[in-house]
Order: sequence, then C-alpha cells, then structure tokens
Amino acid sequence: MPQSSITAKRSYPLSSSEAKACSLLEQMTLEEKIGQMSQVNGGGWNLHDAIRNGHIGSVLNEVDVEKVNELQRIAMQESRLGIPLLIGRDVIHGFKTIFPIPLGQAASWDPKVLEQGAAIAATEAASTGVNWTFAPMIDITRDPRWGRIAESLGEDPYLCGVLGAAMVRGFQGNQLSDSNSIAACAKHFVGYGAVEGGLDYNTANIPENELRNVYLPPFKQALNAGVATFMASFSDLNGVPAAGNEFLMRQILREEWCFNGFVVSDWDAIRELTVHGFTANDRDAVLEATNAGINMEMASSLYKDHIPSLIAEGKIEEAELDSLVFGILKLKFELGLFDNPYTDPGQFPQPVNPDHLQAARDAAERSCVLLKNDHQMLPLSRDALGSVAVIGPLADDGYEQLGTWVFDGEAHHSHTCLQAVHDLAGDAFEVRWASGMSSSRSRDHDGHHEAVKIAAESDVAIMFMGEESILSGEAHCRAEIDLPGSQEALINEVAATGTSIVLVVMAGRPLTLGSVLDKVSAILYAWHPGTMGGPAIIDLLFGVAMPSGKLPVSFPRLVGQVPIYYARKNTGRPPSHENITHIDEIDGRAAQTSLGMSAFHLDAGFTPQFPFGFGLSYTHFDYREFERSAESIAMGETITLSATVQNCGSREAEEVVQLYIRDLAGNVTRPVRELKGFRRVPLAPGESKRVSFEIHTDELAFHNRKMELVTEPGGFHAWIGGDSNAHLWTEFQIRE
Ligand code: NOJ
Repeated sequence: MPQSSITAKRSYPLSSSEAKACSLLEQMTLEEKIGQMSQVNGGGWNLHDAIRNGHIGSVLNEVDVEKVNELQRIAMQESRLGIPLLIGRDVIHGFKTIFPIPLGQAASWDPKVLEQGAAIAATEAASTGVNWTFAPMIDITRDPRWGRIAESLGEDPYLCGVLGAAMVRGFQGNQLSDSNSIAACAKHFVGYGAVEGGLDYNTANIPENELRNVYLPPFKQALNAGVATFMASFSDLNGVPAAGNEFLMRQILREEWCFNGFVVSDWDAIRELTVHGFTANDRDAVLEATNAGINMEMASSLYKDHIPSLIAEGKIEEAELDSLVFGILKLKFELGLFDNPYTDPGQFPQPVNPDHLQAARDAAERSCVLLKNDHQMLPLSRDALGSVAVIGPLADDGYEQLGTWVFDGEAHHSHTCLQAVHDLAGDAFEVRWASGMSSSRSRDHDGHHEAVKIAAESDVAIMFMGEESILSGEAHCRAEIDLPGSQEALINEVAATGTSIVLVVMAGRPLTLGSVLDKVSAILYAWHPGTMGGPAIIDLLFGVAMPSGKLPVSFPRLVGQVPIYYARKNTGRPPSHENITHIDEIDGRAAQTSLGMSAFHLDAGFTPQFPFGFGLSYTHFDYREFERSAESIAMGETITLSATVQNCGSREAEEVVQLYIRDLAGNVTRPVRELKGFRRVPLAPGESKRVSFEIHTDELAFHNRKMELVTEPGGFHAWIGGDSNAHLWTEFQIRE
C-alpha cells in the first residue's frame, strides 16, 4: 500500500510500524491479504498447511505454548512473507488465576484493581503465546436478565469508562511490544447491552442521542487509553447488524474518532448477517462487512470464499482492501511479533503464584458488597462463637465460584469458603457443614433436612447461595432473576429454626432478593469471586477485612421493574414517596385518579431494592460541609465541589465517595443524576477528610438533538455521598 494513501488522510507522519506495514502490503498477493483478514479457531485443528500458504492471519483458542510456537514457526519460516500470527483468547477475568467476574471487579470502584487484574491476566496468558485478548467488555447494560451482564462493568457510562480504560492499560502495559503485554479489544461495538428483553443476540433499538450519551462513551474512553482493537457486536442496532454497520464502524469509529487500529467481527457474525435478514447470501454479507470496515473475520471463512470474485468484479476496490489489511499488519509490528514471534514460558513468572493469588484475593475482598447488616450481625467474632453452620451449594465448590468465561482457570486452584472458614476457625469454634442442595438449581428438598438440623444446633448459619456459573454469561439469560431452585424454601426452613442467617450470594447478575430479605440478618454480595473467593469472603465475614464494595448496577425489587437504573429521566410525572400507592393499600372502588398519577409500579413502587453505588461497611460515614468554589462559572471554566467525609466508627475503613450532577434543563432531557467522579478514601477511626472534585464545563457536555456535543448554560445540582441517593447537595450555574 503506498504510504501516501494513508498520509493523504491525516496530517501526522507514519509511525515506524505503519511504514513497515505499508511496505509489506506492497509485496503481498491478494490471497495473502485475505489470509491476514481470516481468524481461525485453533483448538485441535491442523492449521499448518493453511498457515504455510498464507491463508490465516490469526488463530484463536490455541493456548498450548509448544503448539503456538510451532504455528508461529511455520508462519515465520515457511510462509512466503514470514508474517507472524495474532493468537487470540477470551481472557475475561483472569487466565489461570481467576479474578472476580468483571461485574464484581466493577463493584470495587477501584481502577487499580482492574488494571492489576488485567496485567496479571496478560502476563499469564502471554506465557502461553497469547498476544491478543477479547476484553474489556464495556457494554452498558441495565438489564440483569441478560446473562452477559456478568462480563460487563455495569450500568453507568462514567464508571464503565474509567474501569474499562484501566483494563486496557493493564492488558497493554507500557508498550505493546513488552513480552507481558497483550493487545486488548473493546467489545462489543455497540449497543449489545440493550438487547430487547435482556435476551442474548436479540435486536437493540437505541435512539442515536442515547447511543452517543450512554453507550458510546466507554468505548471512547477505551480508545483514549489506546485500545488496539474493537469487536463488532453480534446484535442488530436500529435494524442494522453491527458487522455490517457502516455508520458505527466507519462514521463513528474511523471518521469521528479517528481510530486507526482494527475491528474484528464476532464469531461467525459476518455469515449471520444473512441469518439476521440483512443480506440475501454470504457474498452480500461479505460486501456489507467490508464496506462497513470489518478488518478481520472471526471463525467463518466467507472473506476467503468471496472477496476474490468481489474484487475481480470491481465491487470491492483493492485499495479499500489494503486499508483493512493495513490495520492488522500494523498491530503485528506494534506487538513486536516480527522480531519476537516465539514464547519462552521460562521467561515468565509461574502462573497462579502467590503474588497473583494475593492480588486475586484483594480484588475479591474489594468486590464484595455488604447489602444488609441488621444489628451489626457482622462481623462475626471468631472468639465469641461456639459453632457455625456452613450451608449451601456454593460453599465448597471451587468450580462454581470462578464464574462465567473461564477457559483456562482450574477449579483445583480455588480456595473455597468452607476451606477458609475451617482455616480461620482452627480450634476456636466448631464448623458444621451441609450443602443442603445438590446444585444451585436443584428443586428437590432432600438435603434440606440435614442443613436445617445443623443450623438448629449452631450459633449462626452462613448460607452460600446464588447461581452456579452456567446461569450467567453468553446465551445464559433468565426471565426470573430470583434465587433459583429450592433455595428460598431452604432459607425459610433455616430461618424457622431461629438461628440467625448470614447470606452470602455468589451470582453473575443482580438477583431479586425481596422474598428472603426479612429472613436473613446480613447479606454479603460476592458475585462470582474467583480463585481466592473463599478466604476473601471469610475475612470479610469475620472482620479481618472491611467490606468496601459498592454496587455498579441497581438491584430491582421485582424483575418487572427492569430496566431500572439511577440515571433515569425525570418524566413529566416524577414519583415520590408522597404520590404513590401500594397495591395492598388501594381502597375498594378507588377513584381512577386517586393513586398518585406518577411514574411508579403499584406492586414495586419506583425505587430499586438496592441503589447504584450502594454498599455498607462495618463503620458508618458522615458527609457534611458541601462547598463549591463559585456560585457560577463561565463556559470553559472549572468548578471545585468538595465535602467532608468522616469515618464515625472505631475501625479503619475505605469509603467510595461519589459525585453526582444534574443538568436541570437541556435541549434533550437530562438524567436525574449522573455520576461525574468518585474516589476511594481510606479513613482511620474518627478521621475526617475533605474530598474535592474539579469539574470542567466540558465534563458536563452531552449530545443534543442535532447530535452536537454541547455544554449548555443554566442551572445544575450536585450531590456528594456514598451512593446514588446521596442527600448532601448544592447548586451552581454555568454562564453563557
Ligand atoms: C463470542 C462472544 O460474543 C465474544 O465476546 C467472544 O470474544 C468471541 N465469541 C470469541 O470467543
């Protein structure tokens, strides 16, 4: 590809990787170019001839380092041009050392946790020859029915953007060519999290304005963090499947955002353009995908089958094809693969080593969210307890605590809660154990009797309930999101013994917990906590560690409230506690207009069970003295918003201080609150700190009806506090 065709489109010079990619392209045949655009599933297939003939640019799912090295050797030494391979793998929340599921990591509200988790995952994956991962998944989702919420970073564009960027930095390190860096992939571009009904692969309809204000910002953050690649979503956005969506891939990604990396399709998604009913056949699908700018085809082989004739007929210009291949070659140079295509595992730290396990343990500790703690039931006292009943299908299952998308982690590395409670108990108290159920989904009651018996004999019952791994993740959606199987019955039976219950929930999504809420004294939400979940959870329950996680997603009371999220619009009839009526309180023959005439459900009200940003600690925090640096600021200026937060308890703790803003009037209606900043603040007992947030007027911009990114003058409210219901507030103005 002549360098001039790239420099013509932009004002800055080519990087050395780009220059090398250009000269390599000039030597390539059409067949070799199409080969670079093909990603093939490894795992057991013999790909040697295809690689030798230059028909493959990338392999996914091959993680045997000897086999990977052999594939790279064939590519380097036996193919005509010696072009190394991209080796892709889903490294979603750890490779061998498994960290909490991404939604759990997001509950840490700690970018360092996500960056370190991704860096460790990258190092472990790179030791097998993997040089590219399909993560982070930064789809905004407000629907816990969708199984892939487990892989997401939650409902909020700001939080997701900050944490997703941290993951990109973790995977890619200081520079892509470092031996323990792997290329990241921002996925799924875009709108997948809004699939109708929370049903995987379903269609998504998102007005452009909402797309730009809610769904696109995390991807822009990933881009700003230098993400090397994007993956097109499976889903159809406003009638156009992403793999053929020129508006997304060309206009937004390439033209507006100037992305110069490459886009990979999702698995078989180019062929599925025809299944969607978007194209009539495979050939048309290839035309749409290349027009849209999908550089690499994952899994299917339609590019190989149809691009040659489409070029021959002039339907695809070879120069256009070159620009798609260019991005792939550029990344291979940036990764340093031409110089160092082989992997020596001896140069890497051992996977699952004590440092990695400690980081996974810290991450799990920070990810757990304390949702309820009546009468300071927790922390439990090791010395005051005589006996503990450990109950539940997830108490001692090293596999299930790992969660979805674990291809490489192994259950035998897991430390379970039962093991951890035994370790902590020593001789101090007796541990009795009964799973109660054969799995989280089991409907039978056969094991209940034993569980109830040990609960009745013990001082406290710790119940490890929730969902096993397979109930969340890709294609694993649920229409009911309660505790499955006979769990509710078991909790009721244990509660009837009079022994207090501490409920630990491991799950891949927010569950509706209303039916058991009154039966338990405390709830710790642990998501799927990963390899070190056991010790992390037990340390939290016994006060060796302090809970500090906060919800990255709202928890509905009833599934019918979905989508329920804090950054909702006010509506013309906003609900309040004064203008709603509960279904049980309606008078007979009540007048049509007597129930409140506002936006609420008769049976669920208008609030979530637990709001976004919420999480308790073993201390409590007081917020006061909200100050603003000015009553009003001019466009282009910065306002400082600050408050004092105090740890009012007797234990050292960390609080996630959160800043929310409301833009009172907009060219399009604005959410009632939007997260604009957060900070983890360590506080000694009794200690107070001032926490300040600097907000530039650009940070208050949104896309208006004309899709322009604007900050509008006018009034704003601001809140600082420990969750999205924060009360301490002030107001300010932006002047013209
Ligand atoms: C399909 C999933 O949607 C995507 O997230 C994943 O990276 C690919 N398969 C590869 O496994």
